[in-house]
Amino acid sequence: MTVKERILALLDGNRGEYISGEEIAGQLSVTRSAVWKSIKSLQNEGYSITAVTNKGYSLSPNTDILSAVAISNYLNMECNNLHIEVLKTVPSTNESVKKLALNGAAEGIVILSEEQTAGRGRKSRQFFSPSGTGIYMSILLRPKISAQDSFLLTTSAAVAVSMAIESVAHKDTQIKWVNDVFMDGKKVCGILTEAALSVESGWLDYAVLGIGINVSLPSHGFPEEITDIATSVFSDDKNSGDLRNRLAAEVLNNFMVFYASLTDRLFLPEYKKRIFFLGKAVTVLKENKQCQATAIDIDDNCRLKVRYENGEEEYLSSGEVSI
Ligand code: BTN
Repeated sequence: MTVKERILALLDGNRGEYISGEEIAGQLSVTRSAVWKSIKSLQNEGYSITAVTNKGYSLSPNTDILSAVAISNYLNMECNNLHIEVLKTVPSTNESVKKLALNGAAEGIVILSEEQTAGRGRKSRQFFSPSGTGIYMSILLRPKISAQDSFLLTTSAAVAVSMAIESVAHKDTQIKWVNDVFMDGKKVCGILTEAALSVESGWLDYAVLGIGINVSLPSHGFPEEITDIATSVFSDDKNSGDLRNRLAAEVLNNFMVFYASLTDRLFLPEYKKRIFFLGKAVTVLKENKQCQATAIDIDDNCRLKVRYENGEEEYLSSGEVSI
């Protein structure tokens, strides 16, 4: 870590409190002039750091920066084995974590970035990931589950995100089957799990669980092609304070509870409750044909049971279903 990053981490761990330049210099074994220069540079980058003579420096408790220290402060004991890292910019957090997985890193590494320049979505789509307004987070997991069960990671993560938004932001969420999180009919979060199988064990070798949440409105809005289908947890470009860190931590807190006994499917009742088209008429896109059906139920494997107009029933595990 650079001196500047270490100073930020120190202030971040003591948000709202003043630490003198002398104390910072002493703790980090740097000169007071290096402290002063770094503070100036952090202030120029937009960090809200107050300097008061005879008291020192203080980072505002409402600073909206993603930080490993702040996220860790909100984590429960289920997350004890997680190692959080926050980057400023990266092509894709999934790609970064995948590289670590292939180099043999242990499970529990979580990488977040303020921005992704090549955020990946499903079906080779891009995931719009502008700086400072979202949570772009990937978790390295090595679950003892088969490839057929890997959907449990994505679906339980969707529930973890939904519950986190509900408890931190006090807003209602829905899940669009299979795993997009929606608010007011628009997508607020997408999840992409990239996994590889270990041929020897028959279990997954690793899974990279990537979660992208639009937290506040990007300053120039969403790109035109997604403006009608995307939304953010907060409807303007300001969320009050530390909510991204709290939200990220709450997603991890919820997810790690589900992950601890994944195949028990603890998340399933909460998943079913949030699927917004159960009991409703839907259009199923099958082999490029649109078929009218009713969405009836979700089974234990998160498959959607539909009944077509001719009375035939089918369990769908993926595919395009719209209301
Ligand atoms: C989708 O809705 O198509 C899935 C989007 C997944 C986006 C997240 S953001 C963090 C992680 N890194 C990526 O490149 N993609 C996932």
